[in-house]
Amino acid sequence: MKLFKPLSICLLLALNILSHAQVSLVGAGKKVDPFHYEVVKNGQFRKASVSSAHPLASLVGAAIMEQGGNAFDAGIATQLALAVVYPGAGNIGGGGFMLARKSNGELIGLDYREAAPSKASRDMYLDKNGTVLSALSQFGDLASGIPGTIAGLFATLPYAKLPFKILIQPAIDLAENGFVISEKQVNDFNEQKDIFIKNNNHPIAFVKEGKWHLGDTLFQKELANTLKRIQKDGVKGFYEGETANMIVAEMQKGNGIISLEDLKNYTAKLRKPLEFDYRGHHIISFSPPSSGGIIINQMLKMIEKYPVGTYGFQTSKTVQLMIEVERRAYADRAEHMGDPDFWKVPVKTLTSDKYLTERMKDFVAEKAGSSTDVKAGTIHESEETTHISILDDLGNMVSITTTLNGGYGCKTMVGGAGFLLNNEMDDFSVKPGVPNMYGAIGGEANAIEPGKRMLSSMTPTLILKNKKPYVVIGTPGGTTIPTSVFQGIVNIIDFNMSASDAINKPKFHHQWLPDIVMIEKGFDANTKKHLQTMGYKLSDRGSIGRTEAIRILSDGKRETAADIRGDDSVAGF
Ligand code: DON
Repeated sequence: MKLFKPLSICLLLALNILSHAQVSLVGAGKKVDPFHYEVVKNGQFRKASVSSAHPLASLVGAAIMEQGGNAFDAGIATQLALAVVYPGAGNIGGGGFMLARKSNGELIGLDYREAAPSKASRDMYLDKNGTVLSALSQFGDLASGIPGTIAGLFATLPYAKLPFKILIQPAIDLAENGFVISEKQVNDFNEQKDIFIKNNNHPIAFVKEGKWHLGDTLFQKELANTLKRIQKDGVKGFYEGETANMIVAEMQKGNGIISLEDLKNYTAKLRKPLEFDYRGHHIISFSPPSSGGIIINQMLKMIEKYPVGTYGFQTSKTVQLMIEVERRAYADRAEHMGDPDFWKVPVKTLTSDKYLTERMKDFVAEKAGSSTDVKAGTIHESEETTHISILDDLGNMVSITTTLNGGYGCKTMVGGAGFLLNNEMDDFSVKPGVPNMYGAIGGEANAIEPGKRMLSSMTPTLILKNKKPYVVIGTPGGTTIPTSVFQGIVNIIDFNMSASDAINKPKFHHQWLPDIVMIEKGFDANTKKHLQTMGYKLSDRGSIGRTEAIRILSDGKRETAADIRGDDSVAGF
């Protein structure tokens, strides 16, 4: 009898999965209704939470968990759905990072960042006079690194429970049968029309005759076919065969350099997550080739010595201190950080107590520092991305940030394949000291080399309290990403805010160079005035980041919050 028990359980499981396969999640009147959905900014759920940039993607993630999937299943399905319903950043032609903590405490850092093609070279975006040709690193096929997302999803699969075929089906349905686009999406498509036409020599789904209107449905048949090839052939459905041939044909038309070999050789990599403590909480974040984990580690440790909670939320005293730690951390980013497989990033020193205490020695309260005086420390030692936060009933925490880099990436679709390519090559330092599209500068550590992964700011992060899951957080926003995560964490830990308040309060950002403080609308006017009298140059800015956060309350409920700055939406049960 005993012998047969596991067998019957297996059989039941298999039947369960089979029956799931037959239950279609997407369609009018179904769990994920592409024609009637609404943006939900907050929810308190007991078992499963998803917060992402689009309501349909969050609904897909929650429905997958309702069908028996865990947070990893939801992570895969939500990313694929975002590639359809949020094409400005959701992607299969881009890359990202997944940070997770399994319910048994195991940490996973998965790097599926794009890589430079084998024909890439250090000065490929300079003309013969050494002038930077940023149009080439930002638009068109040459701007694209080798996409990593599909490799990342398949590398996530061993942690998931459901078959990939089921996880990709909602995305296929959404692409094939269409979904009603939001007002923001209508405006976005209309604004991008000219640039889409300029950058594509074949018709693409986002361009229609005349204008897009509210209530219009977007159909993406070519994308649906690409997703079906991936469903049928797995990772090879993207990196080899018809899809790969289409990518290379696109490269030949558009002066790109990604080859069949580049695609075939691409792999996702496991990275050891970065861990540190902050005011009794344990923070887990992403290590290089993301700069995000190191930057938030540095910033939080630099402010930990000051009783920020007693200074008050966004008082000039608090904000000045936070600006100055941002300045110092971002100076280090420019000099010391790059792909660890190509450049020795001095992580230990950069995050050591001794080094950070030294970095703050020239901090003067009430007086603006200067980025001419604050350089990167000396080491002695051998707008468009998208974030998904997920938590399941077992306590698996999944934090994923993924990107095409700029909105709609390089704005060029792979002819016939229906997906946009990234413009991630611009995240390399194309020339030392010359700012990229986010104003970030870099040097040798982040110079272009074949196969190298460009430095990122993406900061998927997890927080444990009393060694138990507490917060899942992350955001898009280019170089402002670590700042947004930093401020979200401070808001939760130092100012005891709800997840929703923590992510939605106005933010400020300093990234060393340019030496200005960017200030989001709605920021306290008195604090602004006081900062100016201290000598800070302020620059108003529309919005900073679109953070998604989940916080577990002491009664076990999961406060699930989506950023108010976009169509971001939560789902769960
Ligand atoms: O990896 C990075 O740091 C950038 N490619 C992220 C770009 C981004 O967040 C744009 N979103 N608003």
